[in-house]
Amino acid sequence: MIFGRVKPLDAILATAEKKSLHRTLGWFQLTLFGIGCVIGTGIFVLTAAGAQKAGPGLMLAFAIAGGICIVAALCYAEIAAMIPVAGSAYTYTYASMGELLAWTVGWALVLEYAVAASAVCVGWSGYFTGTFLNETLGVQLPAAIASAPLALGGAPGGFINLPAVLIAALITWLLMIGTTESARVNAILVAIKVTALVIFIALTLPSDQFDAARFNPFLPAGIFGGFGTGVGAVGAAATIFFAYVGFDAVSTAAEETKNPQRNVPIGLIGSLLFCTVFYILVAAGAIGTIGGQPIMGPNGVPFPAGSEELARQCALPAYRDALVCSNEALAHVLRAIGWSGVGNALGYAAGFALPSVILILMFGQTRIFFVMARDGLLPEKLSAVHPRWKTPHRVTLLTGVAVALGAAFFPVGQLADWANAGTLYAFMMVAICVMILRRTAPDTPRSFRTPLLSIVGPATMVGCVFLFLNLPWQAILVFVIWAVLGLVAYAVYGRHVSHLGRGVIEPPEAPGEVPGTH
Ligand code: ALA
Repeated sequence: MIFGRVKPLDAILATAEKKSLHRTLGWFQLTLFGIGCVIGTGIFVLTAAGAQKAGPGLMLAFAIAGGICIVAALCYAEIAAMIPVAGSAYTYTYASMGELLAWTVGWALVLEYAVAASAVCVGWSGYFTGTFLNETLGVQLPAAIASAPLALGGAPGGFINLPAVLIAALITWLLMIGTTESARVNAILVAIKVTALVIFIALTLPSDQFDAARFNPFLPAGIFGGFGTGVGAVGAAATIFFAYVGFDAVSTAAEETKNPQRNVPIGLIGSLLFCTVFYILVAAGAIGTIGGQPIMGPNGVPFPAGSEELARQCALPAYRDALVCSNEALAHVLRAIGWSGVGNALGYAAGFALPSVILILMFGQTRIFFVMARDGLLPEKLSAVHPRWKTPHRVTLLTGVAVALGAAFFPVGQLADWANAGTLYAFMMVAICVMILRRTAPDTPRSFRTPLLSIVGPATMVGCVFLFLNLPWQAILVFVIWAVLGLVAYAVYGRHVSHLGRGVIEPPEAPGEVPGTH
C-alpha cells in the first residue's frame, strides 16, 4: 500500500544527527536571512500587478497574505525544529504522510523554487532593461529580445526575455562552481534592499503629491472578485503572496540554530512581520502619490494582470505612466514624482539584490531534487557530486535550464501565480504534517511547539486553500496539470525505484550549507 510508505522519523533524524552542524545562528542572523530570502520581485515588481487586481485594496491584500504566512510560519517553526534536515516540506511529508504525498509535495516545490526563481529573473530583467539599459545608457532593447511573447502575456512584439535568461545562466554557473552567498553578503544585500524601501517610503508618504483622494475608491474591484478570477483584494493577495515566498528557507537553517526553541520562531515570524509592515507602507506610498486604480475592462472588471488586453491598454499614451503598467514599479513611482536620480538608484539596488533571491531559490530547488534523488525517487545519477566543485552539478544544471526556459517565455505575473499555487499546497501540507505528528510522534522532542495548534493548523489550511482558489483560473489549471503529470511520473517511475519501496532507508548526506547563513 503506497500510503503505507512512511519514512521512519528515526531514520530521518539519524541523518540530521550525523551531519551535526555547529549551532551558531542567533535570532538576528535568522531574521536577516529570512528578510534576504523574502524581499524581492514581489514588492519591487508585482506591486503593479497587485494594484491592477485590487487598486488601493493592495494594502489589504498585503495584510491578508502576510497573516496567512504568519500562521503557516508558526507551523513551520515546530516541524523545522523537530525534523531539522534538508528537504523541507517534502521531508516532513515523507515522515508523516508517506511517499506518495511526499512526492506530490516535492513536485509542487518545483513550482515554489524553480518557477519562483524564473519569476525573479523576469523581475530582475525589468529593472535591468529599464534602469540600467534605458535610463542610464539610453539603450532601448527591441521588445523581441526583452519580453515574453504577447500571446503568453508579454509585451507587443515580444519573443524572448534574453536578460532574464542571462541572469538565470549566471546564477546557475555560480551555483555549479559552489558559490554560496556568505552571511555577510546577505546582510549587505538586506541592508541595500531595506534602505531602498525606507527611502521610497520616506520620499512618498510625506510628499506634496501624496493625496488621500487617490485611495478612493479603496476597493474598486471589491474584496472578493470570485474564485478563479484573480481580482479583488483577495485575488491580489493570492498574487502578492509571492512577496512572502521564501521565508520557509529559514526553516532549513533550524539545525544550525542556537536555542531553536526561541530563535527559529523569532526568525520566521520576525522576518514576516517586518516585511508585512514594510510592504503595506510601500503600497501606501506608491498609490498615494501616483495613484493605483486598475484599468477597467468594458464590463467594469479590471483587465487581467499579464493579459494581452492589458498589454495593449498599457501601450496607449493614456496609460503609459500608470503604476499598473510599469515593469519596475517602485523606481517608476520615484521618477514620476520628480526623484529620477533616486528612482534610478532604487533600480540599481533591485538589480543588485534580486540575484541573491534567485540564488537562494535555485539552491533550495537543487537541494530538494538532491534529497529526492537520494531517496531513490529521482535517478541517482542526478545526485552525483562534482569532484572538484563539491556541488550536485547535474541537478543544478537541470534546474538552471528549467529556470531559464520559464524566464525566457513567460511574464513575471504568470510565473509568480504558478509558484504561489505550488507554495500554497506545500504550506497546507506542512500544517497537516504538524497536526499528524502531534498524534503519531507525541514523544519526539520538539524544541518549539506551535501555540494553539488546534486553531493555527486549520487556519493555515483554510487560508492556503482560500488563496489558492483566488488565483486566476489559469494558474489553478497549470497546478492541476502539473500535479497530474507528477502522479503519472510517480506511477510509472518513482514508485518502482524508491529506496524505501526497496527496503533501503540509509541515505547519504546532503552537500553544502544553506547560503546566506554563515
Ligand atoms: N519573495 C520573493 C520575491 O518576492 C520570492 O522575490
